[in-house]
Amino acid sequence: MLFEFPSHADSANHAYVNGIAASRSITKTEQKALGQYMTPPAIAEFMARRAVQGLGAATVRILEPAAGSGVLAATAVDALLGSADTPRRIELLLYEIDVRLIPGLRYVCDSLKVKCTAQGVDLDYVVANEDFLLSATAREQKPLVDLVMSNPPYFKLGKLDPRVTAHSYSVWGQPNIYGLFMAACCGLLRTGGRYCFITPRSWMSGPYFSAVRRHLLAHLRLDGIHVFDSRCAHFSGDEVLQEAAIIWGTALAQEGPIALSTSYGADDLDTAQVQHVAPSLLVSSLSARVIRLPSPEKSGVSSRLTNTFASHGLKVSTGPVVAFRAAAFLRHEVAVDSVPLLWLQHVKSMAIEWPIKKKREHISVRVQNAWMLLKNEPMVILRRFSPKEDARRVTAAPYFADLPGSFVGIENHLNYISRPGGAMSAKEVAGLAAFLNTQSVSEYFQAVSGHTQVNASDLRLLPLPSMTELEEIGAILKPRSSPEVIDEVVAQVLGLPFSLERAVDSLHA
Ligand SMILES: C[S@@+](CC[C@H](N)C(=O)[O-])C[C@H]1O[C@@H](n2cnc3c(N)ncnc32)[C@H](O)[C@@H]1O
Repeated sequence: MLFEFPSHADSANHAYVNGIAASRSITKTEQKALGQYMTPPAIAEFMARRAVQGLGAATVRILEPAAGSGVLAATAVDALLGSADTPRRIELLLYEIDVRLIPGLRYVCDSLKVKCTAQGVDLDYVVANEDFLLSATAREQKPLVDLVMSNPPYFKLGKLDPRVTAHSYSVWGQPNIYGLFMAACCGLLRTGGRYCFITPRSWMSGPYFSAVRRHLLAHLRLDGIHVFDSRCAHFSGDEVLQEAAIIWGTALAQEGPIALSTSYGADDLDTAQVQHVAPSLLVSSLSARVIRLPSPEKSGVSSRLTNTFASHGLKVSTGPVVAFRAAAFLRHEVAVDSVPLLWLQHVKSMAIEWPIKKKREHISVRVQNAWMLLKNEPMVILRRFSPKEDARRVTAAPYFADLPGSFVGIENHLNYISRPGGAMSAKEVAGLAAFLNTQSVSEYFQAVSGHTQVNASDLRLLPLPSMTELEEIGAILKPRSSPEVIDEVVAQVLGLPFSLERAVDSLHA
């Protein structure tokens, strides 16, 4: 059902109300399959205000590649009408795959046309009911538009999906549709054209988005980044549990600082503080082009955090036992030839709990699978994934080699830290596990990656205290200390507060 609004009504709100009504009328499964989550008008307006600044052309052509009900198009037109150099003509090019949204989209465009005409501006629009990624526009990659505004759909795609093949230049490993939208739109901008996307933050780090980042940074100057601290406040109506970020870019070579801002959600956007940061501090020059977000409000760098796992002679690895490949060796019950196998469920903050009588928590030791087992010696074991509702990103446990057998199995959803060619002491293991469980390390991971995974590659860059300090922490802490006690002991030894983000800048400068 389409809500009729008087022609003078705010088109963005109108589009939003219609979009929300449309997405409520379909099942959650359909909504997820289409990635159909509308942008609240306050956020759309915040995006558009900065995106149109200085767009001085007489004709401005705007692309919205996943238009939904037209919220972003409406706010972009409003922003242009309210700007110092309003164009004489606006052309809208809108793609939307869901036919149910097309009448509403046309209605919004018609009301924008009426609004523009009243201000002496021509507006023309094309609404294309097709898959943008397979459209001639996206495939041909010709510079056609002056502004792209997008809140693209997000979900994973199979490697054989035709959209993935069409945009293989932006694919490395498992692709997400939003990365393809981000990449496909870069090459469509005319020189000096503007780019503004709101997406989950996960594209800024991790190997799966490295091709997207390389493509984007080769085409655009990064002008600004806004980060939402809350996982859902920006899409409150739709309960999208994602940490989102907005980026603004221009189709020009990188120069000048990047404007960085943060808010909790949509309500405190107007009070978001802007910090200007040199691109070299945010964007790594290495080929992965990771974008690291410093946390401006934290201060007091600890000069002691100048170590890394590598400088301590430690190695971060991922558990080698992949359950489906090792199926023939996994056991529910202990056997004469079996040793313990640790899964995600066995790893708690500061403790290994084994057995739990729930998983296939024993693994047989045979010649064929000896390569996937580790020598039973002290190490730190971490979960690679944290549930969204977990207060802290990292769950790490000291393992003192106190389970039976000469070997131990570590399943692939876990990372472990060991000392190749030597053994870690009990104090090192306890101190390091405690440090990894602190609130500061959790904030570090929140700053460097938007997703809930703790990647071995991100861990390797983590600044660490000296080994003497880690041992001191390990000696003071009692087994199974609470997170609050851990924070207190680490603070005592290191003299907190400290900022891991700032330490990472100096460490990897
Ligand atoms: C996250 S919603 C955003 C809608 C709107 N741009 C907004 O900001 O409110 C993404 C939209 O893209 C549409 N969509 C999904 N896949 C698409 C595709 N391949 N091509 C074009 N539109 C697509 C969905 O139906 C949905 O309306």
